[in-house]
Amino acid sequence: MRIVLLGAPGSGKGTQARLISSKYGVVHLSMGQMLREEVENGSQLGQRIAPVMHKGEMVPDEVINPLLSAQLEGLPAFVLDGYPRSIAQAKYLEALLSSWGQVLNAVFLLEAETELIVERLSGRRVCQVCGKTYHVNFYKSNRCTCGGKLTRRSDDRPEVIRNRMAAYRQSIRPIREFYDSRNLLYQLDANRTAEAVYTDICHILDEQILPYIEWEKEGDD
Ligand code: AP5
Ligand code: MG
Repeated sequence: MRIVLLGAPGSGKGTQARLISSKYGVVHLSMGQMLREEVENGSQLGQRIAPVMHKGEMVPDEVINPLLSAQLEGLPAFVLDGYPRSIAQAKYLEALLSSWGQVLNAVFLLEAETELIVERLSGRRVCQVCGKTYHVNFYKSNRCTCGGKLTRRSDDRPEVIRNRMAAYRQSIRPIREFYDSRNLLYQLDANRTAEAVYTDICHILDEQILPYIEWEKEGDD
C-alpha cells in the first residue's frame, strides 16, 4: 500500500499518518520531520535549510528530491506526509515509483478551515521523543505519555503560519488536479475530529484500496 497525504499545515497529515502507519504496518515518511532532523543534527544540509524552514518557505527541490528517493527506495509500503508540494514534485514522485515498477494507490486530501488550522497550530506541542502531538487546551502536562518533553515547533508562530498557508494555497490546485486525473484522489472534511477523519480513511482503504491491491497481486501470481 502506497499512500500520499496532502493538506494545509495543521490539517492533520501527521496525526492521520501515524494512525495509518500503526494500523496497517506501513512506514510513515514525514518530509517535514526528515528536514527538522537535519536541522537539529546541525548537518551541512540542516544549516542550509534552517533559515528557509524558519520562515515557512519551501525547501528547494534539489535538496528534497534526493532525500525522498533515498528514503523510499526499497520500501514496499508507505504513507507519505508532506510530499509532494508542487506539480514538479508530484511528477518526480510518479517517475521515481515508475522506475521501480510501482504506483501510488491513494491520495488523501485533508481539507480544513483556516481559522481552525491557526487555532490547532498555535496550541500544538510536539513530543521530542516520539513525535506525538498535543494541544495545550486539552493536555496540560509538559511531558508526553511516553515521558518525552513537549515543545513548540519553531514554525508554529503566527507570522510563519501565514507564510506556510500562503505556500500551500499557491500550490495545491494543480496537485489536486494531477491526482484527480489519475483517479487517485479522496477529499476529506478535516474540520471534524481526528477519529472521524481516520474512520473515513480506514473505510476507503478497507473497502476500495486493499481489495484492489489483493486483486492485482492475484493477477500477478
Ligand atoms: P511539515 O512538517 O510537513 O509541516 P506542514 O505541512 O506545515 O504541516 P504540519 O506538520 O504543521 O501539520 P499536519 O498537517 O501534519 O498536522 P498535525 O497532524 O500535526 O513541513 C514543515 C516545513 O518543511 C515546510 O514549511 C517546508 O519549509 C518544509 N517542507 C516539508 N516538505 C516539503 C516539500 N515537499 N517541499 C519543500 N519544502 C518542504 O496536526 C496539527 C495539530 O492539530 C496537532 O496538535 C494535532 O494534535 C491536532 N489535530 C490534528 N487533527 C485534528 C483534528 N481532526 N481535530 C482536532 N485537532 C487535530
Ligand atoms: Mg506534520
